[in-house]
Amino acid sequence: MNNHPLSSLISNQGLLEELAKKYGTPLYVYSENRLKDNINRLSNAIGNSFKNHQIYYAVKANSNIHIISALKKFLNSLGCDCSSPGELYAAQKTSVDISNCVYTGNYESVDDLQSAYKSGCEINLDDPNSLKRMETIGIPEYLSFRLNPGKGHGQFKGIMTGGKNSKFGIPKEKITEAYILAKDLGVKKFGLQCHAGSSTLDVETFSDITKLVLNSAKEIEACIDQKLEKISLGSGFGIPYKDDETPLDLDLLFSKIKNVFSNHYGKNDSDWPRLCIEPGRILVADTGFILTRVTGLKSSYKNFIGLDAGMETLMRPALYGAFHRVLKIGKAQNTTSAYDITGRICENTDRIAENYTMPELQEGDLCAIMDAGAYGYSMSHNFNTRPRPAEILINNDRTHLIRKRESIEDLFKGCDV
Ligand code: LLP
Repeated sequence: MNNHPLSSLISNQGLLEELAKKYGTPLYVYSENRLKDNINRLSNAIGNSFKNHQIYYAVKANSNIHIISALKKFLNSLGCDCSSPGELYAAQKTSVDISNCVYTGNYESVDDLQSAYKSGCEINLDDPNSLKRMETIGIPEYLSFRLNPGKGHGQFKGIMTGGKNSKFGIPKEKITEAYILAKDLGVKKFGLQCHAGSSTLDVETFSDITKLVLNSAKEIEACIDQKLEKISLGSGFGIPYKDDETPLDLDLLFSKIKNVFSNHYGKNDSDWPRLCIEPGRILVADTGFILTRVTGLKSSYKNFIGLDAGMETLMRPALYGAFHRVLKIGKAQNTTSAYDITGRICENTDRIAENYTMPELQEGDLCAIMDAGAYGYSMSHNFNTRPRPAEILINNDRTHLIRKRESIEDLFKGCDV
């Protein structure tokens, strides 16, 4: 765990006790320094291989406007990838330029499409029927479609978004029809997008998907007799959730994608479409952890550690069987045992970790659930009528409350009718 980017923050017991006292637990804590490192590393890596590129931050990973603003502060050209009117609202609350943003929905309602169209962002459609719904609103000058390349990838079955079982995108066999229809309806410029899965740590997977995307790009360009302006490879860039996993080598990743572009479009990169990516996890996951207190210890048929954070605070373990390191804050005894780590929710799937080795703990001890910066708060919920926790952004020694803790009264505001 010493190699985790937040290990020195996690070992600052005094600061974490202070935060827990001031803001209560559970608490989402994010590091601004790590946000800066992540966006710089990614933008340098893509920039080294592609002069013409665009990064759209996938707002679904963490839609806190202070997180988006921090990323934008470190990369002025940052755009956002939004998949709902709510995510679009978050992007618009920041200084991110809306013309650098894209809306990628699926099974969008006419209202969803209208809010995307009105905002002035680019639109990436999931199906030709979405385009028919758009006709009632207006036809944009630029449009892209989401390709299902017939193949997906990802750490868990539930986060593979390409392939025969995927609800997303247009099958590669049908993709040209969408472009012909769009051209007939008056669209002037085109892009192509593909997001085939998430949480992948293997570089080759991304070059394989790029080849499939560029094969479809070739067919589309031949069919509409014009060049695509942009190719978005979506994202899926993984991070190491476990001690023995290795981070993606981003320089290698983009140099391999560059080779695929060069084989396809020729060496002269001024003829290439703009390469776009929509990273979420790789920018924010390891910038955040959940600070939580031990609420109860139980010896049953198994040994349990009960925390004040559970599946309502971090859905990933219950939903996908995802692994997150849980660390005791402060000095740990040498003796360790295996525990199931759970929360306070009335579901037996409420597990943060199973059969997990932890040092001895007492009620009231603080723990950190690591790598919860992506798909943590954004997938949190209110089951059992538990208000959502607060969020804190740490910038060196200064801490900023970036979202207040919900109150029980907040949950019933909508009932005042
Ligand atoms: N672009 C599109 C169109 C997407 O659907 C997604 C994620 C992204 C970009 C960002 O992907 P990332 O960089 O985070 O891999 N809840 C799951 C992840 C689901 C991702 C869905 N789409 C999890 O907790 O792992």
